[in-house]
Amino acid sequence: MDSWTSNFLQFDGPSPCEYDRCFFEDNVLFRHYLKTSVKPFLSAKTRLSIDAFTWWQNIQNEQRNFSFYEETVDMLFGIFPPVPDLGNAKSGGNVTCALVGNSFNLKGSSYGSIIDSKDLIIRMNFAPIEGYEKDVGTKTSHHVMYPESAVDLDKSTHLVLVPFKIQDIEWLIKAFTTGFSGSSYSPIKSKIKANKELVMVVSPAFIKYVHEVWLEEVGDYPSTGFISLVLALNICDEVSVFGFGANSRGQWNHYFEKYTDINLKTGPHAGQHEYNIIQDLDFGKILPH
Ligand code: C5P
Repeated sequence: MDSWTSNFLQFDGPSPCEYDRCFFEDNVLFRHYLKTSVKPFLSAKTRLSIDAFTWWQNIQNEQRNFSFYEETVDMLFGIFPPVPDLGNAKSGGNVTCALVGNSFNLKGSSYGSIIDSKDLIIRMNFAPIEGYEKDVGTKTSHHVMYPESAVDLDKSTHLVLVPFKIQDIEWLIKAFTTGFSGSSYSPIKSKIKANKELVMVVSPAFIKYVHEVWLEEVGDYPSTGFISLVLALNICDEVSVFGFGANSRGQWNHYFEKYTDINLKTGPHAGQHEYNIIQDLDFGKILPH
């Protein structure tokens, strides 16, 4: 998959069928519009349901309880803005976004200038720019990560944390203050350089919503890239998607490194299913090559 643009504003009318495309019950957008009340980001006022917490607790085997989660989130908003700045204000509206996954298919694509032409540019995990500018662009407005995939950011980039366990929220607090000394399934940065005023934390309830409503519970839980896609649909008026798609062996290999672990495919995520859904969202407006 290379890239495409989907304009979601066109479905905001009273009935989707007034437009030139109609949506039926088996369509992901239809399901999405039936259930749009889940707020993507935590704020100081968010109250997570026990049901959402219990689902979230199981995805990476979190042992601590709901009270501990609530205490940790209270600490979070002692440091970060109580209401996240989404960074999508634009006079006249129509915020265009480039969502950049880490697929090897970006290599040699020359998409850099198209990516840079969007209002917001969303990258994720280890995504490097230096040395890959022609293919991936140079700008980043939002960088989505979890502790095990964290990188330093410049002062103007929004840090979007996707927490998969309570420790991920603890890490965020400590990485900006005393330093984090815990461990995980892979090494974690003790400190991070980023603008704390631009920190946004994805709600566990939103991850559950993406899993249930968008993925119909296929896979253990959604990938960072798929969560980022649904986030982009929430904060952008138009989303162009770049850098998604596994190789012919079904592996999520990257534009920035050689694939070494031949057994690793798409981990706990339903790679092909996510890919199919992203293709369902393609309304045929392919960007020029
Ligand atoms: O591998 P990593 O998780 O850093 O990649 C970010 C996201 O990009 C993944 O979560 C996945 O959604 C997407 N990806 C992909 N095809 C690849 C590599 C990554 O669709 N070959």
